[in-house]
Amino acid sequence: MRKPILAGNWKMNLTYHQAEAMVEELLSLGKAPESVESILLPNFLCIPLLADKLKGTGYQVGAQNMSSEDQGAFTGEISWDMLKDLGVSYCIIGHSERRTLYLENNSQIEKKLRKAVKTGIKPILCVGESLEKRQAGEAKKRIEGQVHRALVGLDREDLQDLVIAYEPLWAIGSGQAASPEDAEDMCLTIRQWIEKGYGSDLAEKIRILYGGSVKPDNIASFMEKENIDGALVGGASLKAKDFYALIEGVQ
Ligand code: G3P
Repeated sequence: MRKPILAGNWKMNLTYHQAEAMVEELLSLGKAPESVESILLPNFLCIPLLADKLKGTGYQVGAQNMSSEDQGAFTGEISWDMLKDLGVSYCIIGHSERRTLYLENNSQIEKKLRKAVKTGIKPILCVGESLEKRQAGEAKKRIEGQVHRALVGLDREDLQDLVIAYEPLWAIGSGQAASPEDAEDMCLTIRQWIEKGYGSDLAEKIRILYGGSVKPDNIASFMEKENIDGALVGGASLKAKDFYALIEGVQ
C-alpha cells in the first residue's frame, strides 16, 4: 500500500503575511490526516514561517527548487543543507516552469536529483509533455526520456524515496485537466519504466502523482486510478478551504 500524497506547490504566490493567514486558517479546519502525506511547498522566504507553524501538526514543508551545489559562490541559490536545517523534507525537481522559463536542462535536473537523494531530501521529479508532443503521439517517449535522463547513474537504493509527478504542460494552470484515463495511462507507463530498469519492488513502492488543473471537484476521479498516488496542485492549493478539501479528496 502506497501512502498517498497531496502536495501544494504555491509557485510565486502568497506573501509572508498572506501565507501566515492561509496556514492559520488551514490549521483551524482540522488536523492533517495520518493517512495522507500533506505537503505545502511555499516560496523560500515563507519556509521558516511554515516550518514553525506546521511543526507537530502532521503537515510537511517542501521547497520548489534547490541547488545542485553544496555551498559557495552561487548567487541567488539555496542549498540542500539550508533546506534541511529548517526541516524541509521534500523538494520539487525539474518543474516544467523551471524547464521552460529558466531553461533548466536534463543535465541540471539530473544533478539536482542526485544531490537531493544523496543528502536525504525527498525529490518530487516533475515530467510532462507539451501539447505538440501529445498531438504527435510522442507523449510517452517524451516522459520516458525525461525520467531516464533524470535518473542516470542512480541505483535502486538511491531511489527509495523518489516521487514522480506527471504534469502535462497543457494541463498546468489551464483549467483543462488530463482525463483520469490518460493520466493513469501515463502514470502506468512511468511505473512500468521503473520496473524495467529497477525491478518490481521499487516500481511498486514509488509514489506517482498527477498534476495539472486538479481541483477539489475532480481529485476523486484521479484517486480512483490504480497508478495515481496523489496530486501535485498549484492554483487550488492557495486557499486553505480548497487545500483541505483536496486532502479529504485524496483519503
Ligand atoms: O506543480 C503544480 C502544477 O504545475 C499544476 O498547477 O495550477 O494547474 O494546479 P495547477
